[in-house]
Amino acid sequence: MANFTFQTPRRVVVEAGGSHRLGELARPMAGKNGAAVRALIVTDAFLAGSGVLQRARQSLAEAGFELTEFTGVLPDPSEAVVLTAVSQAAQTGVDVVIGMGGGSSLDVAKIVACLAVPGNPLKLSDLYGVESVRAQRLPLVMVPTTAGTGSEVTSIAIVTTGESTKAGIVNQALLADLVLLDARLTLGLPPAVTAATGVDAMVHAIEAYTSVHRKNPMSDTLARQALHLLSANLLPAFDDGSDLAAREAMLLGAMLAGQAFENAPVAAVHALAYPLGGIYHIAHGVSNALVLPHVMRFNREACAPLYAELAEVVMPGQAGSVEARCTAFIDHMASLTERTRLPLRLRDCGIGADAIDALAAAAMGQQRLLKNNPRPVTEADARAIYQAAW
Ligand SMILES: NC(=O)c1ccc[n+]([C@@H]2O[C@H](COP(=O)([O-])OP(=O)(O)OC[C@H]3O[C@@H](n4cnc5c(N)ncnc54)[C@H](O)[C@@H]3O)[C@@H](O)[C@H]2O)c1
Ligand SMILES: [Fe+2]
Repeated sequence: MANFTFQTPRRVVVEAGGSHRLGELARPMAGKNGAAVRALIVTDAFLAGSGVLQRARQSLAEAGFELTEFTGVLPDPSEAVVLTAVSQAAQTGVDVVIGMGGGSSLDVAKIVACLAVPGNPLKLSDLYGVESVRAQRLPLVMVPTTAGTGSEVTSIAIVTTGESTKAGIVNQALLADLVLLDARLTLGLPPAVTAATGVDAMVHAIEAYTSVHRKNPMSDTLARQALHLLSANLLPAFDDGSDLAAREAMLLGAMLAGQAFENAPVAAVHALAYPLGGIYHIAHGVSNALVLPHVMRFNREACAPLYAELAEVVMPGQAGSVEARCTAFIDHMASLTERTRLPLRLRDCGIGADAIDALAAAAMGQQRLLKNNPRPVTEADARAIYQAAW
């Protein structure tokens, strides 16, 4: 067996309704027995005003935390958003950082936890790249309210650095101390966000399973179980947002997929999705959905046996040749996107055919991801995939 490494946060609590005891769960991390500790919730304005955070706030207050909130997170957070959050944290002083929200809020919280350490010498720009510095951080809690990015269990944070570019921070320091999966927080997630974030999570599982780097028996087990849960529960959660069992399965599935791709990284679907988000501000999950079937058709000659294995995960009992199961798997994934009414073609998102060259050129900038793809992707290949998706 090939050697491998595996990393994940040290403590995960899976408990529907668990945010009513977030204070009790977070208290040991503060490390100041008995004294008041300052907790910062990092979230977005919609969630802050929605009631979703209410039980968590109350619980933190009851546990003796002095609470402040940064509610300025925006989707695909920019450097300006991150720096504003860091300066607010530095002004008020913070002992524990709690990210509550979608991937955007969790990513900002992770960076704040690193840069708001008293006496921190690092700038945001020092963090970009893979393990570029040895960073310290404040105690960090992650409470996702979407079932998608898996950010709660990854050592990754994504920042929008210009008009159309995103930069990744990959750093051990971003792995949280505590993750709380409270599916009750996701009950109000609108159908369109449920679909987009759910497809993102499924792509994490598929790309981890077919990654040519660091794929290992643990990431495979997690990816398979993630895809099983996500594919079986996406439509129930989409059709009836109040279906708690489906929401629990989606939230768990998204986290398992996050643990898989933290250790066996994602590839061409994400590489080709990022320019759509960067240039056209299409939501991350929607961008993934737009290119997914086309990248899978491109990849099949390199990884048909793996897709055939996943066919049996999403359609138990699926029989037939490798080729037949592979086709069934790709068609099944495409049909889920169709059924959840996500846009199917680039042209449906206001993208002209004349944009394809620029998209392909931008995708080539994502070598960090492309190198994990089972089949090498040239710029001409990227153009052909975007053309097929157009
Ligand atoms: N760190 C990682 O490992 C990682 C991985 C993939 C993507 N990302 C990043 O994550 C971000 C995308 O995150 P996302 O897809 O979760 O979206 P998001 O955090 O941008 O949230 C999308 C929308 O959903 C709303 N929302 C969130 N929870 C809700 C709830 N429970 N009820 C109602 N509305 C709710 C938010 O207010 C927001 O308007 C991007 O910036 C992407 O680059 C990070
Ligand atoms: Fe993703």
